[in-house]
Amino acid sequence: MEKYEIVSKRTLADRVNEYVVYAPSVARHCLAGQFVILRVDDDGERVPFTVCDYDRAVGTVSILVQEVGYTTMKLAETKVGDRLADFVGPLGNPTDLSAYKRILLVGGGIGAAVIYPQAKQLFSENRAADVVLGARNVSLVMYEEEFRKYCKNFHLITDDGSSGRKGFVTDIVRELLEKGVGYDAVFAVGPLGMMRAVCNVTREFGVHTVVSMNSLMVDGTGMCGCCRITVGGKIRYACIDGPEFDGHEVDFDEAASRAVMYREAEKEHVCRLRGTAK
Ligand SMILES: Cc1cc2nc3c(=O)[nH]c(=O)nc-3n(C[C@H](O)[C@H](O)[C@H](O)COP(=O)(O)OP(=O)(O)OC[C@H]3O[C@@H](n4cnc5c(N)ncnc54)[C@H](O)[C@@H]3O)c2cc1C
Ligand code: FES
Repeated sequence: MEKYEIVSKRTLADRVNEYVVYAPSVARHCLAGQFVILRVDDDGERVPFTVCDYDRAVGTVSILVQEVGYTTMKLAETKVGDRLADFVGPLGNPTDLSAYKRILLVGGGIGAAVIYPQAKQLFSENRAADVVLGARNVSLVMYEEEFRKYCKNFHLITDDGSSGRKGFVTDIVRELLEKGVGYDAVFAVGPLGMMRAVCNVTREFGVHTVVSMNSLMVDGTGMCGCCRITVGGKIRYACIDGPEFDGHEVDFDEAASRAVMYREAEKEHVCRLRGTAK
């Protein structure tokens, strides 16, 4: 196998592919919560993806990628055997699960990529977590079987009820907390709005909540300032200080406005890839 070769690729949900990439130096060191920055080809932009799984013996790292724009569409066109130009990592800080006994993992959409290795790690340490997995509809549910295997209690919920219960992840989080399940921590990962909503619920119950901030990134090393967020009134950089932060301290309004700062340029980029630019 060649360095950064795509050794397997499978579609897990609508416009979501899992790629297994041969990257022994990343596989050797990566842990749950960390991410890589890859370039599809030599002209490509650098984009971050969570380390979703790894096999140290074989030297592979798995990422789960949702097609949303230029680079993720380019990646979707790759085939098994193709080589990525770059696959740099592991970056960011690993998840610290050591301080908590009873953990609730909440994943929304592609957030499953972050809570999946956490669930596996806790299972391997004989302290399986409870998991709430949410998606817009059945076509976007990922790793359901795996979560069932690796967690203590599994709750599936979709916006339209096409799989599992109908509703939002916050409905289940609230029910569990109202029942008095004594969680030491909730890890909530998904779209900004979902993480903010979970934090609003857990704040009412005084349960410590960790979120993973997927801010726009360029260098991933703390130099460019692109991933700047405010946490507890202080400036933080998601790439080197995170990506996980105390959700009750994150300034979500600022994070939401920074997340859309390049939207027009990104649209133009996609039009060029599709050959529909005016
Ligand atoms: C630490 C970290 C871990 C991540 N892990 C994953 C992962 O495991 N799987 C995955 O599919 N994605 C993940 N992302 C998001 C991923 O990096 C973006 O979806 C990707 O960069 C989009 O590139 P693009 O060129 O295809 O889209 P662009 O053309 O750049 O953007 C298309 C649309 O996606 C939105 N977008 C761009 N970047 C992000 C972002 N960082 N977060 C949310 N929306 C974004 C844009 O605002 C725009 O609406 C992660 C991001 C970070 C910072
Ligand atoms: S991505 Fe440049 S500072 Fe974080």
